[in-house]
Amino acid sequence: MSKHKFTDLRIPIEENNPAIVRNEDLCIKCGACRRVCDSEVVVGKLYDLQSAGDCPVCINCGQCANVCPTESITERYEYPIVKKAIMDSDKVVIFNTSPSVRVGLGESFGLEPGTFVEGKMVAALRSLGANYVLDTNFSADLTIMEEATELVERVTKNTAPLPQFTSCCPAWVKFVETFYPDLRSHISSAKSPIGMQGATVKTYFAKQMGIDPAKIVNVAVTPCTAKKFEIRREEMNAASKEHNIPGMRDTDHVITTRELAKWLEEDGIDFHSLQDSAYDKFMGEASGAGVIFGNTGGVMEAAVRTAYSLVTGQNLTDNRLNLQPVRNMDGIRSATVDMAGTPVRVAVAHGISNAKKIIEDVISGKCEYDFIEVMTCRGGCIGGGGQPKTEVPMSDKVRKARIDALYDKDSNMPLRCSHDSPEIQSMYKTFYERPGSALAERLLHTNYIDRSDDLGPEGMVDRSFVAPPKYRCAPCGYIHIGVLSEHFTCPVCGVSKDDFVGRKFGSKRGTMHCTKKITEDLVWVGANDRRLGIFESVYSVPNGVSYNSYLLLDEKTVLMDTVDRSVQDKFLENVDVTLAGRTLDYFVVQHMEPDHSAVTKQVLMQYPEATLVCNEKTLQYIKQFFDFDDDSRVQLVKEGDTLNTGKHLLHFVMAPMVHWPEVMVTYDSTDKILFSADGFGCFGALNGAIFADEVDFAKDYMDEARRYYTNIVGKYGPDVEALLAKASTLEIKMICPLHGFVWRKDLGDFISKYVHWCTYEPEEQGVMIAYASVYGNTEQAAEILASRLRDKGVKTQMFDVSFTAGSDIVSACFKWSHLVFASTTYNSGIFVTMDALLNDLVAHNIQNRTVFAIENGTWSPFSGELILKKFENCENIRFPKNMISITSSLKREQLSEIDAMVEAIRDTLPTSAGGTISG
Ligand SMILES: Cc1cc2nc3c(=O)[nH]c(=O)nc-3n(C[C@H](O)[C@H](O)[C@H](O)COP(=O)(O)O)c2cc1C
Ligand code: SF4
Ligand code: SF4
Ligand code: SF4
Repeated sequence: MSKHKFTDLRIPIEENNPAIVRNEDLCIKCGACRRVCDSEVVVGKLYDLQSAGDCPVCINCGQCANVCPTESITERYEYPIVKKAIMDSDKVVIFNTSPSVRVGLGESFGLEPGTFVEGKMVAALRSLGANYVLDTNFSADLTIMEEATELVERVTKNTAPLPQFTSCCPAWVKFVETFYPDLRSHISSAKSPIGMQGATVKTYFAKQMGIDPAKIVNVAVTPCTAKKFEIRREEMNAASKEHNIPGMRDTDHVITTRELAKWLEEDGIDFHSLQDSAYDKFMGEASGAGVIFGNTGGVMEAAVRTAYSLVTGQNLTDNRLNLQPVRNMDGIRSATVDMAGTPVRVAVAHGISNAKKIIEDVISGKCEYDFIEVMTCRGGCIGGGGQPKTEVPMSDKVRKARIDALYDKDSNMPLRCSHDSPEIQSMYKTFYERPGSALAERLLHTNYIDRSDDLGPEGMVDRSFVAPPKYRCAPCGYIHIGVLSEHFTCPVCGVSKDDFVGRKFGSKRGTMHCTKKITEDLVWVGANDRRLGIFESVYSVPNGVSYNSYLLLDEKTVLMDTVDRSVQDKFLENVDVTLAGRTLDYFVVQHMEPDHSAVTKQVLMQYPEATLVCNEKTLQYIKQFFDFDDDSRVQLVKEGDTLNTGKHLLHFVMAPMVHWPEVMVTYDSTDKILFSADGFGCFGALNGAIFADEVDFAKDYMDEARRYYTNIVGKYGPDVEALLAKASTLEIKMICPLHGFVWRKDLGDFISKYVHWCTYEPEEQGVMIAYASVYGNTEQAAEILASRLRDKGVKTQMFDVSFTAGSDIVSACFKWSHLVFASTTYNSGIFVTMDALLNDLVAHNIQNRTVFAIENGTWSPFSGELILKKFENCENIRFPKNMISITSSLKREQLSEIDAMVEAIRDTLPTSAGGTISG
């Protein structure tokens, strides 16, 4: 039995973990730590605890501490020990600050995310009693000198395998050592900036300043909990070996940004009133390249600046110093840099879940990159496990503010390349000699060990954990994931646990859901409604309607739209069960009409980690329909933007007015699936099937598909045509619409129907006859016309407009080539139901038809002229002059007029349709 409790719900933490600790008393079993470790960091799901000897595998990144809402998980505090060292007059306490601390620390004191507080931070450390305050950015420059030199050697002389991975993230290094030890030779041998800073402080700096290295207490102030592990690696004692001082560590302690803030508070230091202070000389100055180390992509960008100079002998021009393609928050970004004719292909990944994809490519020989930066924490070290918890969980808005602050600082610095730093140049001249020298190798480089034994006999596994129970707060809708402890209160509205309703999604899994597998990793999570009488308050749906939503279970999970409010519970159950405890990573909203978006707010609340992916207009509508203002959760997309979810690449294609102005569709280029929003939909519930080829679609559903098209998007033919033009450039193997069946066979046939409909070309040659008759006389004239047409082999379809819903007749008008409208005159106008039908038809932009009218009137027949007038602004409507006017009832002598109309119709029909036109 495991000594660790609730491991299905929380990550287990070993007592001797050097980076993080858990306070059991504060744990509310919310499951957040488990989710982040399994889904983003991925370590949690890649090993079996029992196989690992009940000793949890951990790369010490601290992301679990970052998401823990109660301070149950924190970093292992070291500041009390440093505090004691300061009190010891025999010790020389040196602080070294990492780039990201200066853009995070201010948040602990109420400043806006990303506020640059370097001067106050240095002053704060001095006020705590520092003997020296140095800038780890200096060693970031040093790291670049060594790492870029190594890269150039690998690329030009094949000294070691490509791609070269960066080494400055100790959590990433430990991940490779544990799960992919065979790839260790790909990791740069250059130590991280803190590793280099430690060794250099206790050698070069101690010598310069005349300090006995044995007296130095070297403290790294970092955003990173993994550094607490790194400084304790056995080999991080280069200065000890150099001076022959047994037991001495290069860096003695690591305190995080949060620890520094806590210490300052405890000591009553008023952060805001501190006067800016500057770093000490020697190892206190850095270039802009060192500054951006804190950002995802920063290390790679800094290395490229120097590698370019090493290869070409000159610096990148100012406009090429910023490597824009890698400056965003996509999981994996890449660029190619031309270095004197040699293209160097670089990539950046943040989050181990993203890095793992690249690893798989390296193993399978598919990796095309030469140099890859990997940072465990999203956003890079600015999002490190020891940064202030300004928001829980941290949003990209906060991350971006910190990232921007570092980029701003870099762009305003006169010195932007590591190799241009006079201090670095002088240090090489007087101490290290050159990058890769024997001394540099001893102090600045390292090697990596195989930790795969930590996984036990099972090795690496891919384990899914059982989802924790979820409860919904009845008053406010807040969803709590995990056990409700005795004194639990709702963090949103404050009610007690008694007001939570037991939606135990996790525990009920498999009992109350109905989903359909579309492909290996795509699941339909929609629902049917057969009770609905009138759809969108106007269209009859005698066969019900389906609301489709799809869940992609890639390395990232993606939900495509939601459903109507009427089937909300079924849908939420389906999503929950299908996720099976995984986090929802992305929520794509293609169309904001409430029959697809009614559950948007609930999804956002229930899956707080999900990023909302939509276009600008959609976001506007979301804000109009709901109270939503958390832009930090939004990833805005525009035409051509893509989303990489692991195996799948989703492309967003804007389709304005393919019902509403904000509509977009999504193309999955991996499986060639078009998520077509309202396009290619159909009325009718699904009745157990999901694919159109499972039913006799032409016979049982085509009329419903036409009726759906006509009424939903019929008015917007040119917009549908524009979308079809875009779609024709894509290879489409499957269409997943928001209503009706999924298409995987005979797509061409259905698409050709759309081509007819959107260009308003008739689908069939024949006659639609609609009549309005109070006492049956007008109806009889229509019957006689239909009968005589049939006698001549012409297809007909008849409707009583007072009985059949207008939406059905509009749909039939889109099908047939010839339209006959027969109506009584009614209070000197057209009969009401006929009038409504004609208005609706014209509003749907009907075109390219041959139209006839039959009017009736007892004292002043007038309706025929009015009927034809309705079409005067419609395009390409032909009116053969054959209007029949009846006074009260059709007389025998008028049969010739009926026959004349029959012939006029036949004169405009091909022989194949009972007409007289050849061909
Ligand atoms: C309420 C009502 C209003 C009518 N208004 C007119 C009218 O304004 N002008 C006219 O010529 N006939 C009018 N009619 C007669 C009809 O146009 C038509 O000739 C008669 O209802 C017989 O045709 P049916 O059997 O198809 O209903 C009206 C009939 C009804 C029931
Ligand atoms: S520190 Fe990182 S790897 Fe370790 S348990 Fe926490 S999230 Fe997982
Ligand atoms: S409170 Fe939540 S995040 Fe924190 S330790 Fe407990 S289960 Fe993990
Ligand atoms: S990304 Fe930075 S903060 Fe996060 S684990 Fe790696 S080095 Fe530490």
